Amino acid sequence: MIFGATGDLAKRKLFPSLYRLYKKGRLSERFAVVGVARRPLSDDEFQASVKTSVESAIKDSGELEDFISHFYYHSHDVTDSSSYLALKSMAEKLDTHYSLEGNRIFYLAMAPEFFGTIAEHLKADGLTDVDGFKRLVIEKPFGHDLESAKQLNKQIRKAFSENEIYRIDHYLGKEMVQNIEVIRFANAIFEPLWNNRYISNIQVTSSEVLGVEERGRYYEKSGALRDMVQNHMLQMVALLAMEPPIRLTTDEIRSEKVKVLRAMRPLEGDQVKEYFVRGQYGKGQLNGKEVPAYNEEPMVDEQSNTETYVAGKLTIDNFRWAGVPIYIRTGKRMAAKSTKIVIQFKDIPMNLYYQTEQTLNPNLLVIHIQPEEGITLYLNAQKSGQNIEATPVKLNFANKGIDDMNTPEAYERLLYDCMRGDATNFTHWDEVALSWSFVDKISDVWENTKEESFPNYESGSMGPKEADQLLEKDGFFWWPVT
Ligand code: BG6
Repeated sequence: MIFGATGDLAKRKLFPSLYRLYKKGRLSERFAVVGVARRPLSDDEFQASVKTSVESAIKDSGELEDFISHFYYHSHDVTDSSSYLALKSMAEKLDTHYSLEGNRIFYLAMAPEFFGTIAEHLKADGLTDVDGFKRLVIEKPFGHDLESAKQLNKQIRKAFSENEIYRIDHYLGKEMVQNIEVIRFANAIFEPLWNNRYISNIQVTSSEVLGVEERGRYYEKSGALRDMVQNHMLQMVALLAMEPPIRLTTDEIRSEKVKVLRAMRPLEGDQVKEYFVRGQYGKGQLNGKEVPAYNEEPMVDEQSNTETYVAGKLTIDNFRWAGVPIYIRTGKRMAAKSTKIVIQFKDIPMNLYYQTEQTLNPNLLVIHIQPEEGITLYLNAQKSGQNIEATPVKLNFANKGIDDMNTPEAYERLLYDCMRGDATNFTHWDEVALSWSFVDKISDVWENTKEESFPNYESGSMGPKEADQLLEKDGFFWWPVT
């Protein structure tokens, strides 16, 4: 059951992902999808909208009639028990018709203020009384801060146990985010160096070209810190910094990630200014077009104090990472759409190339998350035909270059994982809680001090100059991502 079936996420991501799974034979014929949303629609109308969204997302989608015949629609009132009872009886009929053995997934892809109410009703009105499995998939935002997240968690835990809850962080479904573990734990050459003796700093960048678009109402209350840092950025950091798990099971991996978040040094009061930088985009040129400032966007306050950019320095207080800064930055309306991780290794103990007055470039390992997917290793080698002189060379592995196949969409993987009952790439409550408690301290300071310099970076740039100074203070600079 997809709650929010007429919404943007369902149309753009969920229906096309279900279709891809169907085409690959990962969904048998024994499945039904009930679209749940407020507006009245017939099954036929709903099927037609599923068809349109698949066709617009996937070229050559071909014959869709069989696929869409599995889709049904229920017009729903989220606060009314009788509406849940009607949904229940519909689900029971479909269960018999498709021999579903009482297995149910409830996907909440809608306004977060209803997450708790829906979960409570699902239990109270008997939809979770099934013989098979019951699972709740829940989209972000999972709360607005630690307090509201706790409250929401309490509500959903009344109806579902922790291992039945699949909290989506779609970054965890990305091919190269999943590859962080493989690169680290399946290669003898990286793991021995993966610590403060050999790594000087780590930089995680997720930049976007898009602005806030039509989401001003949500974004004004969220800002980049809650929208990107609390979830996607900290999840990538946890994967980069975790200890090798004793085996690749959900519980073992999650418990190692939790330890990283626990070791992250909390920032208090004045430290926030020292370790974190916020930005808000002004107008500027992007792809040859003038774009407006954030505070001129629809549903955004002219005097807005909301950040559309965050850069920060994280420190992880454990044996492996003490002394290694992990820098993160993310923002909207930046020069490029790019998510990249740069691992900068320490300089070698002595430079033998000093006679040529050459400074050696540090070795870098770059993990390209998107739009390219792959890894690049920067080494130094001799330029042919020259004096002894070292020059940087790039060893490149591009995922897409291999077979020219599109890797599966994050949502496709995550839906499949959920159907198989694998929660590894979803966030556990402990991770959510620890991330909120880190982020809350920063938002407390930011919300209580008006940032007079806003807007402080031009659209189409890589963010405010303070973000560069953050690294300069430590003798580093952001490696270019474009
Ligand atoms: C979402 C945020 O979680 O991630 C959006 O709410 C953001 O504001 C998006 O644009 C970025 O995702 P991706 O996959 O395009 O990097």
